[in-house]
Amino acid sequence: MTIPGSRVSGTAEILIDYTKCSACGACVEVCSGYPLFMENGHLGVDQTRGFGCIACGACVAVCPADAIRISGRDLSPEDVLNIPPIASRADYSQLNSLMVARRSTRVFKSQEVDAEIIQKIVAAASTAPVGIPPTEVGVCVFQTRKAVEELRDCLINEMRTWRWMFSPLMLALLRPFIGKENTAMIRDFMALAIEMFTASRQDGKDWFLYHAPLAMYFYGTSYSDPADPIIPATYAMLAGESLGLGTCMLGFPGYVFRYSRKARQKYHLPEKIQPGLMVIFGYPALRNRRSIKRTFREVNTFS
Ligand SMILES: Cc1cc2nc3c(=O)[nH]c(=O)nc-3n(C[C@H](O)[C@H](O)[C@H](O)COP(=O)(O)O)c2cc1C
Ligand code: SF4
Ligand code: SF4
Repeated sequence: MTIPGSRVSGTAEILIDYTKCSACGACVEVCSGYPLFMENGHLGVDQTRGFGCIACGACVAVCPADAIRISGRDLSPEDVLNIPPIASRADYSQLNSLMVARRSTRVFKSQEVDAEIIQKIVAAASTAPVGIPPTEVGVCVFQTRKAVEELRDCLINEMRTWRWMFSPLMLALLRPFIGKENTAMIRDFMALAIEMFTASRQDGKDWFLYHAPLAMYFYGTSYSDPADPIIPATYAMLAGESLGLGTCMLGFPGYVFRYSRKARQKYHLPEKIQPGLMVIFGYPALRNRRSIKRTFREVNTFS
């Protein structure tokens, strides 16, 4: 049994250096594909057990003897990195400060974002956990204000072609199929938002992508978990904040890409995608002087 993906099929290859292996069993304990097992004090490999090797790299991470090499499913021994020392890692207080200080930024300076910073954001985002490796998440980077504006025009023009679906008659017909909540969401939010995006563009304003100088769109394929693109998008947002940028997550663009073949084709996206999330970045024109304490809808604790 192997877990399929859009880029992979089959299991990854596991190479054990038995001259180094002390048979401690640590790799077996962390293995989530289950091809590793201990028998009579010896480490065994059987790719027919469980899912076979999914190339998660957990065994490589814990092996005290550096005795395992994994190749395949987009992982190679060259991808194994040394872990940064504890002293160089953000602690809770630093990370929490970064997160508390973040507020969505929707007004940006005209300054563009350097390629080096963009590359750092993409690198940080790519460290995010993935549902099943290798990641099915793709990223479109719109790296200049001009590119973001072209994207805005493309997506708004596509949304405008859908307006006939939002008429009261169509919504009444659709309601039994899409439900009360979706009907209300389309009528009270989406239809209004499309009109606002269009009107703001005519006034030289941008209430859709906010004249941002940089946008990244994280999407998943039909093989991915719907949450897969959301996690790297969140990492990218935090990385951008740590580099002095203001950021804002945008859910709307993903839905336009999801339902517009024209937009998918223009930006070389797969035919079937999970909507995912867009993050916009830029140097804030206004400094946030206060933050907001938020609370979850509810926190239920069980013990
Ligand atoms: C999934 C998601 C989708 C969002 N979509 C949009 C959007 O389309 N347009 C927008 O202006 N803000 C969008 N936001 C940003 C939220 O509106 C913003 O996070 C909210 O106003 C809370 O403010 P804060 O980010 O300063 O805490 C989105 C945020 C999330 C998490
Ligand atoms: S890479 Fe993951 S699935 Fe493969 S052997 Fe190692 S721990 Fe198991
Ligand atoms: S963790 Fe390393 S040393 Fe321990 S059993 Fe696995 S391969 Fe051998």
